[in-house]
Amino acid sequence: MTNSPALPQLPEPLVVTLGNLKGGVGKTTSAFFLASYFATVHELRVLVIDADPLSQTGYSWFRRLQKADVAVPFELIAFPSRHVNDCITDNAGQYDVIIVDAGGESAEIFKAAVPESDELILVTSVSPSEVKRVPSTYRAAEEAAAESNRNIRVRVLMTKVPVTMKNGVNVSTEFRSQRGNLEDAGYDVFEAYVSAWKWYRESADGEVGDGAENPIADLGEYREVGEELLRPYRKTDSSDEVVMEVSA
Ligand SMILES: Nc1ncnc2c1ncn2[C@@H]1O[C@H](COP(=O)(O)OP(=O)(O)OP(=O)(O)O)[C@@H](O)[C@H]1O
Ligand SMILES: [Mg+2]
Repeated sequence: MTNSPALPQLPEPLVVTLGNLKGGVGKTTSAFFLASYFATVHELRVLVIDADPLSQTGYSWFRRLQKADVAVPFELIAFPSRHVNDCITDNAGQYDVIIVDAGGESAEIFKAAVPESDELILVTSVSPSEVKRVPSTYRAAEEAAAESNRNIRVRVLMTKVPVTMKNGVNVSTEFRSQRGNLEDAGYDVFEAYVSAWKWYRESADGEVGDGAENPIADLGEYREVGEELLRPYRKTDSSDEVVMEVSA
């Protein structure tokens, strides 16, 4: 299968690793929603590798959906091992996108996934204790990336963001100050963020049948996260812009 025409520069496959050496920040939730985004919006063949050695939340979630006959548009393999790089390369031929949920416990597994990745997403909530873990995760990623000859793009995704809207802007001080801290420290932070919404929690934790258990049903803000993630691989619109300027 060839790349979708809108994404001519997508690596084959695109490997996205989600990590933060810290638990409960939304890695697994992000892996599932982004997998659904790639599969449904771009009709790509997507594999999620649950490489979390401590809690196989992704695997359990996937099994629950399968048993309830929910049509999940992606595949999942449980591979919580420091040989996760082999799992990525062994599956590279069969998928367009491979998403690695590296878990929060094992720097070893995380560091094995990084050299095989094109995109690294450091997931953090706005909680100061979690934001403080970003630099150590970043350093671990840097060490691992040094062994790779790929260009690995590293971005921070903020999750569980409190929302206080004023004139169309989220003025939550917690959000703004932590985002500011991350940007001041030089991190590339996704413009899109994921709000603290019940929907995301219920998708993962809800019993199948409650109506809120399926990330396919509503991608929420992950649609924007996905769009932003893919932006570097899109056809450049610069020519379009020129045309518009000329005709104006
Ligand atoms: N944006 C969100 N809003 C509200 N709840 C969320 C959000 N994202 C995740 N959650 C909930 O927070 C909990 C932790 O999320 P998740 O399991 O995705 O994190 P994790 O980083 O994978 O954790 P672990 O390191 O334990 O694997 C889950 O109950 C999940 O449903
Ligand atoms: Mg998890």
